[in-house]
Amino acid sequence: MPGRPSARRRTILRGAALTPVAGLGLAACGPEGGDASAPATPTAPVDLGAESEVPKGGAKLYRDHNVVVSRDASGALKAFSTVCTHAGCPINKLQDTTLICPCHGSRFDATTGKVVQSPATEPLAELPVRAKGGKIVAGPGA
Ligand code: FES
Repeated sequence: MPGRPSARRRTILRGAALTPVAGLGLAACGPEGGDASAPATPTAPVDLGAESEVPKGGAKLYRDHNVVVSRDASGALKAFSTVCTHAGCPINKLQDTTLICPCHGSRFDATTGKVVQSPATEPLAELPVRAKGGKIVAGPGA
């Protein structure tokens, strides 16, 4: 009889020991706490390169600047920050005109900035953008 409860207790302890490991995996996933390496969008106009790189009805992700630029059927450009509004990860994947966050899988429409899949709930921040001399310039003051 005395052996039984202790065997059960050991099983429970083993299960508990696994929990912190799973917790650590989640914590390491997003840049929280505002450290210096947190991704940032341009605070001044940046030259993103040739205007021809963004086709009508398409979009291009500029990972180095955390900006996506899209062009509608009429040729008008739009730009959005690609710092995820969920927990601040830099979005690193663009599939057609859908942006996919690597951290928790949020998806955004690169032509409107709107969330198309949670956990994010807020749209991406829109940035001023214009074409100047065949080049795309985006960011505050562009
Ligand atoms: S930071 Fe969580 S989905 Fe992007």
